[in-house]
Amino acid sequence: MTFEELRAQFPVLERIAYLNAGSMGPLMRATGEAMIERTRRDVEDGRGGKPYFDEVLRLRAEVRSRIAALLGVTEENVALTASTTDSCNVVLAGFGLRPEDEVVTTDSEHPGLLLPLNVSGARVVVAPTTGRPSREALETILSAVTPRTRLLALSHVAYTTGHVLPVHELKAETGLPVLVDGAQSVGAIPVEAREIDFYTVSCQKWLCGPEPIGALYVREPDALRIAAPSYFSQASMEKDGRFEPKPDASRFDSGWVGVPALAGLVAALDAAPDWRYERSAEAASRCRDALAAAGFEVVTEPGHAALVSFVPHGDPAETVARLYEEGVVIRDLPGTGWCRVSCGWWTSDGDIERLVAALAKAVD
Ligand SMILES: Cc1ncc(COP(=O)(O)O)c(C=O)c1O
Repeated sequence: MTFEELRAQFPVLERIAYLNAGSMGPLMRATGEAMIERTRRDVEDGRGGKPYFDEVLRLRAEVRSRIAALLGVTEENVALTASTTDSCNVVLAGFGLRPEDEVVTTDSEHPGLLLPLNVSGARVVVAPTTGRPSREALETILSAVTPRTRLLALSHVAYTTGHVLPVHELKAETGLPVLVDGAQSVGAIPVEAREIDFYTVSCQKWLCGPEPIGALYVREPDALRIAAPSYFSQASMEKDGRFEPKPDASRFDSGWVGVPALAGLVAALDAAPDWRYERSAEAASRCRDALAAAGFEVVTEPGHAALVSFVPHGDPAETVARLYEEGVVIRDLPGTGWCRVSCGWWTSDGDIERLVAALAKAVD
C-alpha cells in the first residue's frame, strides 16, 4: 500500500493533525473494527467455553511473537503486561535491591520508570543528561556509576528531549544489568533488545494499539524473582499456592489483557509498513526544519527519534490548548517550558504545515 492509502486507514487524520503518538498513537479503522467484532462475539456468544479460551491463548501468543520480532528477540523471553509502568514494577519488585545499592538513571525519565525506581529500596542516582548535548550522555551516565551500582535504568528515547540514549554502549561499557524503558522507542525506531537485560514496551503509543497493553523482554528469566505472579505465571500449582513457574518469561505475565484490545493490537501490528522507521525519521526531520524556519528554538537535536521538542512563544500549556482548538494535537512537557510533537510514519507534510500555521495563530 502507498503512504496515502495507509494514512487513509486512520480516520482521525482526515480532520486532525494528530501529532501525539508519544502519548497515544492514532487508531486505525481496522483496529477499531477488530475490537468491535471481538466485543460483539463476547456479547453474543459469552466469554467462556473451550473455543473462547483457545482463542484468548492464541491471541496472547500471537501478540507475544510479534512483539518479540519487533525487539529482535525470541518470544520465550517476552511477557505480556499492561504497560511500561507495569513492566518496570515487575522488574524492580523482583530484582531484590537493598538500601545500600544504587540505581543509576537520568533526569529525563518518566514517572512510569521513576516511581517504581523510587520504591525499589535502592538509592536512586540521577545523571544530568537533559540540557547537555546528546554526545555527552554516555560519559555523563558512566560518571554516575560507582562500585555500589547494581542496575542502570533509563529510557531508550527520552520522552522530554526525544534524544536516543546510549543503552547498548552503557551495557557494553559496564556489564551491569540494564532496564530500558522502551515506551518511546518500540515502533518509532528500530530496536535490537537482545543484549539488554530488561526492555519494556507500551503498545498504545507508536504501535497504535488499544490501551492498556504492554510487554517486557527478560533476557534471563531465571535471574529475576517472580514478585507479582498472575494466573499465567504458573505451569502447575499446589493447594496451598506453591507453584511451578512457566519455563519462560511468560511467568512474568502480569494478568489478563482485555481480549478486544488484543484483537485490535494484532490488526494494528499487521498494518504497519516496512518503511515505518525511515518515514517517521523523515517526518521528524521535516518537523524540526519547519519549526526552526518559523523561528522556534528546537530542543531535539537532528537525527534522533520521532519526537521533536521545542520552546513555544507563549505558555506551553496554553499553546497546546490553542492548537487543539485548531485541530492540531501535541502536548506540553510540564516543568520544562517545552512542547512536544510526535511524528509517526503516518505524518504528512500537511500535518506539519498545519502545526506551524496554528503556532503562528496561537501568538496572535
Ligand atoms: C518514557 C516513558 N516511559 C513510560 C511511560 C508510561 O507508559 P505506560 O502508560 O505504558 O506505562 C511513558 C508514557 O508517556 C513514557 O513516555
